[in-house]
Amino acid sequence: MTTTRGLREGDEPITMLTAYDAPTAAVVDEAGIDVILVGDSMGNAALGYDSTLPVTLDEVASRTAAVARATEDALVVADMPFLSFGVDEAESVRNAGRLLKEANADAVKIESGPHTVEMTRRMADVGIPVMAHLGLTPQHVNRLGGYTRQGTDQDAAEEIVDLAGAHAEAGAFALVLEHVPANLAAAVTEALEIPTIGIGAGADCDGQVLVINDVAGLGEWSPPFAERFGDVRSEMLDAVAAYRDAVTAGEFPSEEHSHVESELDDMY
Ligand code: KIV
Ligand code: NA
Repeated sequence: MTTTRGLREGDEPITMLTAYDAPTAAVVDEAGIDVILVGDSMGNAALGYDSTLPVTLDEVASRTAAVARATEDALVVADMPFLSFGVDEAESVRNAGRLLKEANADAVKIESGPHTVEMTRRMADVGIPVMAHLGLTPQHVNRLGGYTRQGTDQDAAEEIVDLAGAHAEAGAFALVLEHVPANLAAAVTEALEIPTIGIGAGADCDGQVLVINDVAGLGEWSPPFAERFGDVRSEMLDAVAAYRDAVTAGEFPSEEHSHVESELDDMY
């Protein structure tokens, strides 16, 4: 069993991958991935939205519960969706707690900023492990004006270093660094006691995370920093087309898929 405390114990990099349903979580868990993130990337990757903003707490709770039911070893981290935290601190803590109490998450992830330091402390204090997330925070797409690399000038880089330290000090157990220069991610990793998990952040983080659709090759598009390690989309397309052809050709179901009840012989 992977725990929030044991994450940085091994010498090998930490592996983290998203999953949004039980069968996918079972595969990810069986493959030995350390952390399963029920990311709000489900907005794009599973729910057909063109951003993460419409994703609701109910959707994350339902998907997290499904993932948790299918996971034996991996740590299950539920992503807090847009506006489920940060508006009101008490409501944020209750929402995070719901993902643990009702959906069986082991921890929550929160897109972090200056406004989440005290919130992270409060959650850690009451017993909710928090994974922080800095660099590109996609819930801010309307402020950022796009999904661009962050921390590219000295001031922005220093702000990320400072916020990383503040969240670690507040009790976050790990930090996702998304779409930042590799040398910045390396510096943050060096400075922190807690593990960093990178996506589009170079090789020097303590771990890596990607979206399952990209790794499996399920979607039609992947970001340049992801790699498609499989081609599940064409596998699935072949299977579905073969089924369609078999039915239309009268080849499925065959006799082996059918049951004839001898008791019915007199009636039919
Ligand atoms: O929602 C998500 O999948 C994420 C990862 C990309 C870190 O936040
Ligand atoms: Na996310």
